[in-house]
Amino acid sequence: MKLSSVSLFSAAVGLASASPVHKRAGVTDADILNYALTLEHLEAAFYEEGLKNYTHDDFTKAGMKDPFYSNLKMVAMDEQTHVQFLTQALTAAGAQPVAKCNYSFPATDVKSFLALGSVLEGVGVSAYLGAAASIMNDTYLTAAGSILTVEARHSAYLRAALGEAPSPQAFDDPLGLNEVYTVASPFIASCPSSNQKLPVKAFPSLTMSSMTGSKVDLMAGPGFNMDNTTGLYAAFITVTGPIWAQLTPKGDGKFSATIPEGVSGQSYVVLTKGNSQATDDNIVAGPAIVEVATSTSSMGGGMNSTTSMTSSSPSMSMSGSATPTPTYNAAPGMAPRSLVGVLAGFVGAMGLFL
Ligand SMILES: *[C@@H]1O[C@H](CO)[C@@H](O)[C@H](O)[C@H]1NC(C)=O
Ligand SMILES: *[C@@H]1O[C@H](CO)[C@@H](O)[C@H](O)[C@H]1NC(C)=O
Ligand SMILES: *[C@@H]1O[C@H](CO)[C@@H](O)[C@H](O)[C@H]1NC(C)=O
Ligand SMILES: *[C@@H]1O[C@H](CO)[C@@H](O)[C@H](O)[C@H]1NC(C)=O
Ligand SMILES: *[C@@H]1O[C@H](CO)[C@@H](O)[C@H](O)[C@H]1NC(C)=O
Repeated sequence: MKLSSVSLFSAAVGLASASPVHKRAGVTDADILNYALTLEHLEAAFYEEGLKNYTHDDFTKAGMKDPFYSNLKMVAMDEQTHVQFLTQALTAAGAQPVAKCNYSFPATDVKSFLALGSVLEGVGVSAYLGAAASIMNDTYLTAAGSILTVEARHSAYLRAALGEAPSPQAFDDPLGLNEVYTVASPFIASCPSSNQKLPVKAFPSLTMSSMTGSKVDLMAGPGFNMDNTTGLYAAFITVTGPIWAQLTPKGDGKFSATIPEGVSGQSYVVLTKGNSQATDDNIVAGPAIVEVATSTSSMGGGMNSTTSMTSSSPSMSMSGSATPTPTYNAAPGMAPRSLVGVLAGFVGAMGLFL
């Protein structure tokens, strides 16, 4: 255990000394911390499995030059430290911390592992960002913020390693608790029955099945009412509110949507009833995750592979020749069964970079 972790633990204990956790709109700070802990357990398990499954040599063979492997181990260590920090903070505050679950990750090799890792880090950033406004206690807010910035660095590092722009847009997209849970729950196979039930629910899943130019094909999963698609809209979530996309129903829960201008990087699209808002009250499916790479992403991809920041990736040259035309990659939308297929599509697109 690193020294820095030890002092963090004392910080967690000090931070949580006694006082009962506060509550806003039915969600307590303990709920938020346990929600964060749920995600940190998932991320920690993901890297632990991946580093068990794939050797240093496997990473090298997949084109990840040193010091990528040791940096990845540091990322894994960060996630474990976040788990321990939140567990301690909750315990010290007199709340019951959730324990680790069993997980199911559709990763089969280094490339799919890193592609999924990049998506998970992006979801982590969006989760902390979306939860920030619900945290009552300043001390917890600062602690959550200090985790958020590290998740953002992980995200940027993995994106760069995959030949994607590290920071493809000026603002990250906040996701609500239910949106994050919708995206994360397919990876959670089973949890200890002693785990506190969090005040979250999953919306019907939304998966991206294919894309052509700026058109994405979406498919809603179980629980979605396919019989009446009248008045449904597609919303891309941004910090300044939804950007509405043209949505064409194709029957059987299938839709086609056009990615609007101004959307880039790891983006999230939900189906909503009506187009005045995109909230828990009117989201009917999603989010689906869409990686939108615009020409600006050549900022990452355009660098020579000798550039130190991206030296881990031999693949940077590909987007160096990026045309101004946006390209679109699919990421896991969320139906567990279709997940592998969709991820394969995602990784397939990534294969160009790797
Ligand atoms: C925030 O939580 C800390 C640790 O539990 C506590 O010491 C502090 O009084 C709380 N602040 C507020 C404003 O409730
Ligand atoms: C690790 O390998 C196991 C066994 O093949 C597999 O079930 C799991 O999904 C893999 N996990 C990762 C993160 O690669
Ligand atoms: C995880 O899976 C193992 C093997 O199937 C099982 O014994 C264990 O109870 C599961 N743990 C949880 C937390 O669901
Ligand atoms: C279909 O949904 C729209 C919008 O929610 C609603 O106005 C309409 O009454 C519904 N039609 C049927 C047949 O349920
Ligand atoms: C990349 O490297 C090549 C050859 O080493 C060089 O000619 C080119 O100018 C470099 N490009 C950039 C963007 O540094």
